[in-house]
Amino acid sequence: MFKSFFRSDRIERDLSFIGVDMHSHMLPGLDDGAVTLEESLGYFRLMQEWGYRKCIATPHIFRGVHNNSPETILPVYEKVKSALQEADIQIQLEVAAEYMVDESFMDLLQQKQPLLTIGGKYVLIEMSYAAPSPFIESAVFQLNILGYKPILAHPERYGFYHFNFPQYERLLEMGCVFQVNLLSLSGYYGDDVKKTAVKLIRAGKVQLIGTDLHHYNHVDAIKQFTITKAFYDITRNMQLLNPSLL
Ligand SMILES: [Fe+2]
Repeated sequence: MFKSFFRSDRIERDLSFIGVDMHSHMLPGLDDGAVTLEESLGYFRLMQEWGYRKCIATPHIFRGVHNNSPETILPVYEKVKSALQEADIQIQLEVAAEYMVDESFMDLLQQKQPLLTIGGKYVLIEMSYAAPSPFIESAVFQLNILGYKPILAHPERYGFYHFNFPQYERLLEMGCVFQVNLLSLSGYYGDDVKKTAVKLIRAGKVQLIGTDLHHYNHVDAIKQFTITKAFYDITRNMQLLNPSLL
């Protein structure tokens, strides 16, 4: 009896409805994500098994912490792309970045430097978890003026917004798209983050899901969560933009 109860609560993993992962740190040696090429290929192999068809890698660009630029990122991307072919891993790889909204990002915008985009128009941005960036609204505004579409990475992880829903609304009205981390829904970052992620989804405010995968602990958490009915219940009615990035 216990066996059948257990089975009914566990279902086969199939993330093909997401299709495109547009937020991860799987390129090796660039940030706090994958370290070696082997590790990186291991993640892509798993993504293929889980049902993804494309991964858009997004290394951090965060001056003073992860000093990346197209010059550091693109050669690594090319190397991994060739290695994927050699290893016969059937996943399309593209590259963008996750930009920390700080003074140096504002400088890039001011100088009209070309940004690494997702699907040609989306720019993935993040803030510190400790405090809202004083530049966030200006960044969103200027990205729109420059013809980009900002994606705010993991809005549910910004605890300072949890009891300030009007601020979420404001960023959406200003033209932001929200991307929730798959891991947030699993409870990996705690109950408050999970509750906020679910609340944003239920309110129809989330259009993208990303793994934000950095390391094997994330793999384990994703593996466990994506065989639960809860995951598919939460995400079932979402109007996801991910497949449009194929
Ligand atoms: Fe990230």
